[in-house]
Amino acid sequence: MKKKVVVLAGDGIGPEIMASGVAVLKKAVENAEIQFEFEAHPFGGAGIDAKGAPLPEETLAACQSADAILLGAIGGPKWEHAAQTPEQGLLALRRALNLFANIRPIAVPDALLHLSPIKEEIVKGTDFIVVRELTSGIYFGEPRHLGAQEAYDTNRYHEEEIRRIMRQAFEIAQGRRKYILSVDKANVLATSKLWRKVAEEVAQEFPDCILEHQYVDSAAMRIIQNPTIFDVVVTENLFGDILSDEASVLPGTLGVLPSASHGEAGVSLYEPIHGSAPDIAGKNIANPVSMILSASLMLRQSFDMNQEADRIDRACFEAMEEGVLTKDLGGETSTTDFTAVILEKLS
Ligand SMILES: NC(=O)c1ccc[n+]([C@@H]2O[C@H](COP(=O)([O-])OP(=O)(O)OC[C@H]3O[C@@H](n4cnc5c(N)ncnc54)[C@H](O)[C@@H]3O)[C@@H](O)[C@H]2O)c1
Repeated sequence: MKKKVVVLAGDGIGPEIMASGVAVLKKAVENAEIQFEFEAHPFGGAGIDAKGAPLPEETLAACQSADAILLGAIGGPKWEHAAQTPEQGLLALRRALNLFANIRPIAVPDALLHLSPIKEEIVKGTDFIVVRELTSGIYFGEPRHLGAQEAYDTNRYHEEEIRRIMRQAFEIAQGRRKYILSVDKANVLATSKLWRKVAEEVAQEFPDCILEHQYVDSAAMRIIQNPTIFDVVVTENLFGDILSDEASVLPGTLGVLPSASHGEAGVSLYEPIHGSAPDIAGKNIANPVSMILSASLMLRQSFDMNQEADRIDRACFEAMEEGVLTKDLGGETSTTDFTAVILEKLS
């Protein structure tokens, strides 16, 4: 069976880590039933340079007809003052594909314990997923107003928007420890009161899972004080933005964290959580783990290829535990050498 994967390498370190991700994917699925056709398209700054727009029409059309999308990273000083910036291209792509669910796994492998800003005994064993609603809430609600003396935004959620992100969270939890923490501010916000009510209703559809609720302020503290208790954390757009960035400091580098964004039924997009790292671009020192793990998330969540994904994840964690580390982790291994080690482990 053939599946089309659109590859948007993007800018900065994007093409370097994408080369790693694609090489590892090809190796991992060599003998699988599903075979991938990779189709590369310009996007972000590369889209502006090649076609005059960060999201060229051909790129969007290819994404809309893809089975999955892999994105490296976009942006950089070169395009900061462009009429349309690379970042606008990314927002336009998310909107066009209606990618409402952002999934960020946060794991701290033993090899990275010493790099965490949190004490080893607290952070050891951290392994949870933040599920963030991505296309509604206060970032999109109308009316909004910025005046000289007064400004306001509108936090608005429709129950259907809450229901679909809740279902995503429960489905993910079913493949894990079946524990969902729904984060809100239901003691103050009307949107949170509706959020909590819908969460309880969706929980009825998943009797094998446990749902608990927590206010966002105390959840923010617990992520630092006791990160190992979490399994799946589901929350609205604003809270998810902040909590997932807070959680991303636990492993001590951005270079190992993947993410996925899902739409209702259509194509999903997989990308590292970090940006294009212009400060290290072109030096062959970027950590490709974030991209490789994004590719493994794609295997899991778009193609149900859990065995192949497990092998990729294991190879990455094993390599890091053996001391094969890129510069951001205090090592000397280059991007291409790290990739070669993973390919060898998968052979
Ligand atoms: N989804 C995206 O593509 C995305 C996300 C965030 C930022 N950006 C864009 O990226 C550009 C740079 O932004 P920034 O510098 O604030 O954030 P960044 O995430 O690119 O870099 C932050 C720091 O982390 C390091 N880093 C990031 N990824 C790494 C990796 N894989 N290996 C080793 N080190 C790594 C960088 O060298 C830098 O020191 C900006 O144009 C920004 O708008 C894009």
